Amino acid sequence: MVMAMMLGAVLLGVAAACAVVLVSRGMTGSHLSRNHVLFFSGAIFITLVVCVHLTPSFSSVSDYVTSVSTVAVFDRRSPCLNLVNRISWAVTPNNSLINFNATKNLSSSFDYYERHWDWPKTQKVKACRIRKFSKPDASRFLNGSWVVIAGDSQARLFTLSLLNLILGPESQRMDSARTALFKRHSNYSISVNEIGMKLDFVWAPYVLNLTHLVADFKDKKSYPGVMVMGAGLWHMLHLNNASDYESVLRTLKGSVVSLFPFSTELASKSPHLFWLGFPVLINGMLNSHDKRQQMSDAVWHAYDRALSESRLLRQTGGPLDLLDIPALTWNCGAHCTYDGMHYDIAIYEAALQIMLNFIIKSRQRH
Ligand SMILES: *[C@@H]1O[C@H](CO)[C@@H](O)[C@H](O)[C@H]1NC(C)=O
Ligand SMILES: *[C@@H]1O[C@H](CO)[C@@H](O)[C@H](O)[C@H]1NC(C)=O
Ligand SMILES: *[C@@H]1O[C@H](CO)[C@@H](O)[C@H](O)[C@H]1NC(C)=O
Ligand SMILES: *[C@@H]1O[C@H](CO)[C@@H](O)[C@H](O)[C@H]1NC(C)=O
Ligand SMILES: *[C@@H]1O[C@H](CO)[C@@H](O)[C@H](O)[C@H]1NC(C)=O
Ligand SMILES: *[C@@H]1O[C@H](CO)[C@@H](O)[C@H](O)[C@H]1NC(C)=O
Ligand SMILES: *[C@@H]1O[C@H](CO)[C@@H](O)[C@H](O)[C@H]1NC(C)=O
Repeated sequence: MVMAMMLGAVLLGVAAACAVVLVSRGMTGSHLSRNHVLFFSGAIFITLVVCVHLTPSFSSVSDYVTSVSTVAVFDRRSPCLNLVNRISWAVTPNNSLINFNATKNLSSSFDYYERHWDWPKTQKVKACRIRKFSKPDASRFLNGSWVVIAGDSQARLFTLSLLNLILGPESQRMDSARTALFKRHSNYSISVNEIGMKLDFVWAPYVLNLTHLVADFKDKKSYPGVMVMGAGLWHMLHLNNASDYESVLRTLKGSVVSLFPFSTELASKSPHLFWLGFPVLINGMLNSHDKRQQMSDAVWHAYDRALSESRLLRQTGGPLDLLDIPALTWNCGAHCTYDGMHYDIAIYEAALQIMLNFIIKSRQRH
């Protein structure tokens, strides 16, 4: 059974990779570019690895035939928590793609795709009342809370998606928030007075920066109700040493556990702690020689293993819940990234909605 599923996933992955190549061939009517070949081999490789590490299951919704939903680990706390992570993508080219100049690379076709996601419309999902939070929903839910998001550029994109939801993407406040948030290598803070919410984004490209931040909360004896962390890409690029990454993650874990000793038990009053996982890296699309060299698939997997072995995540007995960016980016696919590393905001909107549902589900249990 498991073998059959794995085989199914491999075939599907190969078919998807072939479809990408065939589409691009159809467009050019000529031979494959180097990028497509790189993507092709990358896709098969990732497919194989994903099959080994994750348990694939197929969405029963015919609208989303192109996507595969994956869930890393079964969550024993509640069956609803498992469903929260299972979303499906529909990634479709828009009408103008026909005019796309195919001598350009995959990155430059990014703007021609529309990306939609949803939970499968099953009875179980309905029964668990899993839903997309609207602006008023989210405002009510986050009323009076202190949210801290700390990490690298992924954490910044996650912050952007939260601000989009709370302030509205077209609002004037959002324009100025966006400008301030994207100042290079800076922190950002905002108080949304009408809902008494305070949001801090802390630029923390290394895990060590996160450890210091947590130690700071401990000194000040005050900490946020919701905290989202994630760092690793800088370490991968500049230090490129997975065993060192594992050891800094262990230190972070120690620091989190000593600040929130109760948080391994879900209680309604305990803070909600999340980890933003690594995005899938598409080597052929990375925008510098150093990145393509250092951030290979093998290194990605070594870092992913380091994360499991550090036992930082709840699924390995640690204090943080994973926001499964690996599964989200994998399922959305190569047309969802413009540089093989940073993905469309839709990925982070989905991660945000998963987080909100996750918090509500874990509160309801008490
Ligand atoms: C496609 O793009 C290339 C390089 O950007 C350019 O030289 C070529 O003229 C373009 N072809 C068409 C049909 O626009
Ligand atoms: C498709 O995407 C391109 C690039 O962003 C955009 O210029 C064009 O207006 C879009 N076309 C449609 C029909 O949405
Ligand atoms: C937030 O909470 C305050 C006080 O509890 C309340 O007065 C206010 O109406 C709430 N705002 C929203 C948007 O729910
Ligand atoms: C951002 O905030 C952290 C934690 O408060 C602090 O350690 C760091 O120096 C700040 N960074 C900048 C660039 O101000
Ligand atoms: C993050 O940590 C690195 C390595 O320890 C350090 O060089 C850098 O100054 C720190 N950055 C911030 C913003 O704290
Ligand atoms: C990697 O990090 C470990 C632990 O910090 C260290 O012992 C080892 O020497 C490092 N390896 C390299 C090649 O730098
Ligand atoms: C793809 O094309 C864009 C501009 O069209 C360019 O900036 C980028 O470096 C190219 N990427 C690769 C991997 O060649």
